[in-house]
Amino acid sequence: MLTEDMRFAKAIKRTIIMIRKVKGTQDLLNLTLFNFIINQAKKHFTEYNFKEISTPILETLELYKRSTGIETEVVTKQMFKVEANKGDEQIVLRPEATPSIIRAFIEDTAQQVPWKVFTWGPMFRYERPQKGRYRQFTQISIEVIGSEAISQDAQFIKMLDRFFHEKLRLSNYALILNFLGCFEDRKAYRVLLKQFLDNSERDLCKECKVRKEHNILRIFDCKNPDCQKIYKDAPFITDNLCKACAHEWELLKDQLALLSVSFVVQPSLVRGLDYYSKTVFEFVSDSLGSQSAFCGGGRYNRLVSQLGGKEDQPSIGAAPGVERLLLLLDQIKETLPLEQAPALHLILPIEEKQNMLALLLAENLQSHGLCTDILLDEGSIKSKMRKANKMGAAFVLILGPEEQEKKMVTVKNMITGESQQILQIDLIEYIKK
Ligand code: HAM
Repeated sequence: MLTEDMRFAKAIKRTIIMIRKVKGTQDLLNLTLFNFIINQAKKHFTEYNFKEISTPILETLELYKRSTGIETEVVTKQMFKVEANKGDEQIVLRPEATPSIIRAFIEDTAQQVPWKVFTWGPMFRYERPQKGRYRQFTQISIEVIGSEAISQDAQFIKMLDRFFHEKLRLSNYALILNFLGCFEDRKAYRVLLKQFLDNSERDLCKECKVRKEHNILRIFDCKNPDCQKIYKDAPFITDNLCKACAHEWELLKDQLALLSVSFVVQPSLVRGLDYYSKTVFEFVSDSLGSQSAFCGGGRYNRLVSQLGGKEDQPSIGAAPGVERLLLLLDQIKETLPLEQAPALHLILPIEEKQNMLALLLAENLQSHGLCTDILLDEGSIKSKMRKANKMGAAFVLILGPEEQEKKMVTVKNMITGESQQILQIDLIEYIKK
């Protein structure tokens, strides 16, 4: 039987169990690379006349049912539902930003088209976590709303290629491209594909049997090698386009070639979201392992009317995933022009009596834009110097009784090792020199 003391000890133990982060989320304790990506994106997309906007993280489930697609995995399996909402509407954490941007476009009807915007922030999908796949991740979503010209697609893809190659200095990646045709093309192609699959129905995996009935184009995403063997002989959608779409597909490939964008046509690329038509693409890298796509996008021409807008607005967009970019950039970070941390000026008061002087000195340095910190807790000068070294201080400013008396400060340059006593009043001038 447990004694009172044992019960108490057990209760204490229970209360001090470490609280861990939610599965599939990450702590980013050094934001240098993350900020580099975001800052380069802001610069790059602004150069192409895109405006930065922000939309909520909370949206209605209905928004994704009507855009991302009621049959897609994102909507059926991966939604984080918010319990706190007391109203009738089911509120969710956004799994992607495109539907929110279109909703915002419709709600604020004053927008000129083409409306070129980008946003970035956290997205949420309940997926099985692995390298490059998380339950909370960051996307930069870039959209052109209200432009039908196929040259828009060529320019958009070129813009992304330049972002990855020039602004982020990536080289180990490829662009895969496909063309899904117009609504009527896909309708006819679904029938053709169904006829083809009818012959091998028995050999399909369980999930593909369901896909065949509900979302037939998604069969190509199946990882089962037996299914993949069957799909090798499937008809290609690009061989079954109407005349106008076939012409646009040829134009797109020609224009990308003229813009020196290398690409590989992948007839099985259909993308996992329901709204795409015509152009679809992914940027992939084999240095990422199985989650190889670090940016996905395409044209979506009916989303505005699907979400209640008066007129259809042909649109194109894409979203690079920041966590996958981080994995890629980590491999080349030495070659990147990353922002350097500012030189740290660390004040070391020797005794508590010098703390007040240290506070005033720090205020003065900070007001001159110098990065300054103070080691206020007690300790020997030796241990404080060791700490200063670990903190990567560029200058250590020692304030002992002698310095206080003489209105001086001993400045140690941690790179050269030189020390010098300076009048406190001359300190800023000395450091700035
Ligand atoms: P998506 O392909 O679902 O497209 O996602 C775009 C990118 O987000 C992926 O290529 C990947 O880098 C990143 N991503 C997606 N899921 C995860 C995850 N669980 N963990 C880490 N990264 C992830 C879209 O979301 C569309 N809204 C793109 C778009 C914009 N299409 C038109 N406009």
